[in-house]
Amino acid sequence: MAKLSHHSQFLVLVIILLSICHSEQAQSSQSQTLLRIQALLNFPTILSGWDNNTDFCNSEPTSSSSVICYEGSVTQLHIIGKKGAPLLPRNFSIDSFMTTLVKLQDLKVLTLVSLGLWGPLPGKVSRLPSLEILNVSSNFLYGAIPQELSSLTSLQTIILDDNMFSGRLPNWLSSFSVLAVLSLKNNLFNGSLPTSFSDLENLRILSLSHNHFYGQVPDFSHLTNLQVLELEDNAFGPQFPRLGNKLVTLVLSKNKFRSGIPAEVSSYYQLQYLDISFNTFVGPFPTLLLSLPSITHLNIAENKLTGMLFDNLSCNADLKFVDLSSNFLTGSLPNCLVPDSKDKVVLFSRNCLATRKQNQHPFPFCRNEALAVGILPDRKKQKQASKAVLALGIIGGVFGGIALVGLIFLIYRRLSSKRAINKSPTRSITENASSGYTSKLLSDARYISQTVKLGALGLPGYRTFSLEELKEATDNFDSSAFTGEGSHGQLYRGQLKDGSLVVISCQKMKKSQSTQNFMHYLELILKLRHRHLVSALGHCFECYLDDSSVSRIFLIFEYVPNGTLRSWISEGRPRRSLNWMDRIAAAIGIAKGVQFLQSLMIPGVNSNNLEITDILLDLNLVPKISSYNLPFLGDNMVKFGHGISSGGSRDLSIDTRLEQENKNDIYNFGVILLEIIRGKPIKSADQVDVLRDHIQLAVTADYSARRSVVDPAVNKVCLDQSLKTMMEICIRCLLKNPEDRPSVEDVLWNLQYAAQVQDAWRGEYRSSEDSSISP
Ligand SMILES: *[C@@H]1O[C@H](CO)[C@@H](O)[C@H](O)[C@H]1NC(C)=O
Ligand SMILES: *[C@@H]1O[C@H](CO)[C@@H](O)[C@H](O)[C@H]1NC(C)=O
Ligand SMILES: *[C@@H]1O[C@H](CO)[C@@H](O)[C@H](O)[C@H]1NC(C)=O
Ligand SMILES: *[C@@H]1O[C@H](CO)[C@@H](O)[C@H](O)[C@H]1NC(C)=O
Ligand SMILES: *[C@@H]1O[C@H](CO)[C@@H](O)[C@H](O)[C@H]1NC(C)=O
Repeated sequence: MAKLSHHSQFLVLVIILLSICHSEQAQSSQSQTLLRIQALLNFPTILSGWDNNTDFCNSEPTSSSSVICYEGSVTQLHIIGKKGAPLLPRNFSIDSFMTTLVKLQDLKVLTLVSLGLWGPLPGKVSRLPSLEILNVSSNFLYGAIPQELSSLTSLQTIILDDNMFSGRLPNWLSSFSVLAVLSLKNNLFNGSLPTSFSDLENLRILSLSHNHFYGQVPDFSHLTNLQVLELEDNAFGPQFPRLGNKLVTLVLSKNKFRSGIPAEVSSYYQLQYLDISFNTFVGPFPTLLLSLPSITHLNIAENKLTGMLFDNLSCNADLKFVDLSSNFLTGSLPNCLVPDSKDKVVLFSRNCLATRKQNQHPFPFCRNEALAVGILPDRKKQKQASKAVLALGIIGGVFGGIALVGLIFLIYRRLSSKRAINKSPTRSITENASSGYTSKLLSDARYISQTVKLGALGLPGYRTFSLEELKEATDNFDSSAFTGEGSHGQLYRGQLKDGSLVVISCQKMKKSQSTQNFMHYLELILKLRHRHLVSALGHCFECYLDDSSVSRIFLIFEYVPNGTLRSWISEGRPRRSLNWMDRIAAAIGIAKGVQFLQSLMIPGVNSNNLEITDILLDLNLVPKISSYNLPFLGDNMVKFGHGISSGGSRDLSIDTRLEQENKNDIYNFGVILLEIIRGKPIKSADQVDVLRDHIQLAVTADYSARRSVVDPAVNKVCLDQSLKTMMEICIRCLLKNPEDRPSVEDVLWNLQYAAQVQDAWRGEYRSSEDSSISP
């Protein structure tokens, strides 16, 4: 048996050495790949900071370049050149560029913008199997979208804006089941859209503006997630597209639409931005559009719309831009459209309105023209549609409060949306253009919501939540959902629509807190996602009505259902007992969580209070640390940011502090290990010293001495060598002098060894993803 254990000890050593060597090699080959990319891009000035000595995985991201790694391998690469960058020289080869790039095998997010790339997009890009987000805007790429792309089943976002791509959109694009964003603005695509696009049910944003598309828009009425549809400057038509009623932005301008405006448009209760200008829309202008609950921008200019306006019409108070120019409208200008402030624009020239302002035609002109186009091409359909709208209106009223996802959550907040939709136009806040504040926040938040999964194994993707969703999950923050006051505000328990349980923390914000702070904060929250930490699943902002600054921030965490580790080891009633192998696996999991927290090098994150009651187990008995300190979004936030980012120039005291904290973590970990081995709760600090000495004696004494210490529940199955290793590492963690305690890597090595020995003997330990030590 001893021979066997030596054998496996050696094996473990080899495996570990191999994996370390492998990972170092991997890192250096990644660096070479990145340097090669720099050379192939002809050493652009934005990458002038890259050289042989750059530690890419730990370098500071800038606005024009960033490399993000997960467990040592590059998962995100962003290179953004100067606007209007010229073509790369003749000797540039997009093919060799791509051959080099695909060596970064784990890439999930790839941004190559304004770099002068030219040539057809090589099909080789499909050799990046994990790719989720691809943005190659503002280059000189041409040709068709390569067929090979169809094998990238994780693609969520494809952005090819401002290139010279051409040809028709292939049918297989609709096989991307998770595709959420497809943006192809400003290219040379032509043909009509495949009808199979109706199946892209996760699509949120479809931007096809400034191409040569034509023909009928496929039926999108089942795309319940579609929020943005931009078709400007193509030749789509003639019928108004069929759409779901969740749209936020709809741009149909400069196409060949020649139908009436269907009545269901008046049920698009989330619609903020509607532009149908420069088409040939005919028939009556539905004045209800002016009072849609969310509308802020309405442009119907340069069509053939008819109808009479009244001065008592009502409008949404938040309308900031209305253009009715060049139609055949008669009657009087509604009072609610008379501009009352400088930032409200109302244009209505070249109609036949009874006003002296803005150059009106005489009334007969509109009457004659209206008669000329008066025979509506689809009058029958209009009638049916108005029945449909009644139903839609009711559905809209019932579900109106539910699920306002993504885009809109920052732009407005409804205190009581159900009521608002039924009765009065909702109060909403529009983007404060002068400060650019909201749009920055918005775009970043959008970005985060797309950059899901950031390599966080076994966690659901990070996303933004809507306030309505949270209200629904907590029964409108009912007191029965309230679970207490945590270190960052109130905590609620809730259940999402998909049935998953979550914990929601709610923090009030001071008005003074800047956007910068939020971004640092969100970055940190994102960094603190790990399989062995109770992790954030997303966030939600609530904004002030007056200036759209953030009033409350909600963080949504996973709920870990299986109780504390202690309840499985020493105190459960009825006592549920983990077997020896599961205990080692739990210890390994905790150690990995600690290792991850330490690798972030943020002082105070673990704050030396790790206890067995803070370790929760999920349904698969995977341990998760729940007590780590999320950084506060407080006045010290900026400092936190610097603590992380200042790299080489961090001051000594922080390093010493980190070192101390790390060693304290190890001690706390030792206490947990002690309880895991003995199966009895440890209630006081004094007890620890006594027990440590006790175990120390047992280790050096004989087999039966060790048996007397270990939990009788596992006594019979655990192999002596495995037990001994656990005891030894436990004692070392509990040494008085912090400097004598092992590093977390050392701890992991020993735990892994204890697991392997046990496994070699029992054949019981099935290898899981936890069975290798991550470097
Ligand atoms: C970087 O490394 C390459 C090859 O390893 C070498 O040719 C080059 O001179 C090095 N550059 C610098 C600045 O050290
Ligand atoms: C391409 O040509 C430029 C000069 O136009 C030169 O500086 C560069 O080294 C060449 N690159 C390659 C990869 O040959
Ligand atoms: C693509 O990336 C650039 C640079 O980060 C960004 O400005 C642009 O908004 C992105 N495109 C889309 C559609 O998000
Ligand atoms: C569509 O574009 C392709 C490639 O540019 C061109 O060959 C083809 O003739 C165009 N088709 C139409 C109908 O314009
Ligand atoms: C608005 O005025 C018109 C004509 O003056 C009238 O027929 C209509 O009933 C009024 N509507 C409301 C809501 O007061």
